[in-house]
Amino acid sequence: ASVPPFRPGLEGVPATQSAICDIDGQRGLLTYRGYGADVLAANSTFLETTYLLIWGALPTAAQLREFEQEVQMHRRVSFRIRDMMKCFPASGHPMDALQSSAASLGLFYSRRALDNPEYIYEAVVRLIAKIPTMVAAFQLIRKGQDPIQPRDDLPFASNFLYMLTEREPDPLAARIFDACLILHAEHSLNASTFSARVTASTLTDPYAVVASAVGTLAGPLHGGANEDVLAMLEAIGSEDQVEPWLDQAIAEKQKIMGFGHREYKVKDPRAVILQGLAEQLFDRFGHDPLYDLARRVEEAAAVRLGPKGIYPNVDFYSGLVYRKLGIPRDLFTPIFAIARTAGWLAHWKEQLGANRIFRPSQIYTGAEPREWVPLEAR
Ligand code: CMC
Repeated sequence: ASVPPFRPGLEGVPATQSAICDIDGQRGLLTYRGYGADVLAANSTFLETTYLLIWGALPTAAQLREFEQEVQMHRRVSFRIRDMMKCFPASGHPMDALQSSAASLGLFYSRRALDNPEYIYEAVVRLIAKIPTMVAAFQLIRKGQDPIQPRDDLPFASNFLYMLTEREPDPLAARIFDACLILHAEHSLNASTFSARVTASTLTDPYAVVASAVGTLAGPLHGGANEDVLAMLEAIGSEDQVEPWLDQAIAEKQKIMGFGHREYKVKDPRAVILQGLAEQLFDRFGHDPLYDLARRVEEAAAVRLGPKGIYPNVDFYSGLVYRKLGIPRDLFTPIFAIARTAGWLAHWKEQLGANRIFRPSQIYTGAEPREWVPLEAR
């Protein structure tokens, strides 16, 4: 059999079949199970979209009510996990805290029954319910406070913002935050989802699947870019610095954070929606001058990078939304993880449905077989 050509980063190489998400990178279209992400962001909730992604169809009212209730009942995390988190260094990155605490769930619920739909349902409920609680808990613990318990009367997004800020959020803020979760919930075979599927393919438990995906999402070329965008805007400082800053960065072959995408050769449709959500927040809660700077960067980058198909991606405007919601910068990527847990779990379930362990080949470039050299002779 002929060996397919080597493609670094598996660019353009199909590594799975999937019915979950479709991206048209030329036209800037994104669908989850056939529904436009824009339509879902405007009409659905994060939990309803999670159900859709994982089980393939929109839930009935009864199914949705049951799923919401189950998630609500499993939001609390064991005091043992909270105590473990108290031992984490307060200076550590919240993504590292999340990866460790997500993995620790396997200590509590490790019994695997991967062919049992009830086990799948329970694992989905636990992960979707507990990941936000763990993100919020670490935020309070590192400030020297005790985590606060979830509030049963609050829906998913409001409850998360409440656990984080200790205040019940404004309904518009909660609605916009929920739409952000929808927009980050799934994106086909990105690096962290690929990582999740590889881990899933060994038939390990779903907590290990999510923990491996969290570790992959953390990097600056993937989810970590969202916090770097604000740092970049601050480094640019003022509108008259935009063009010289970009010219220098491009001459030095630096990556402009929040720009470029393996799949999209036009502006990421999620960036378009997030920009609109940011504007709604500014109208309601006051303007952010970093937004004017971001728009100038987008304009100036369009001239310089647009011809290569490099435009704003999902991370470019999301940070401005979260900043207006008062969320600390190093929680942007953990929030991405809260949302993407839905997609990872959809891929986990799909992988189990037609599993074959991932075990690609390689092209060996090392030494020919050679003689052992004893230590004294080296
Ligand atoms: N700024 C400047 N040049 C860029 C950028 C950028 N952000 N992205 C790509 N390029 C250039 C790159 O230098 C290369 O140019 P040349 O052909 O002259 O060497 C060309 O475009 C192809 O780039 P690549 O790095 O080979 O493309 P890729 O498909 O491997 O990378 C990417 C995709 C997202 C990793 C990359 O665009 C990037 O590093 N962007 C910045 C980080 C970022 O915003 N990541 C978030 C991705 S979106 C969602 C998420 O995962 O969070």
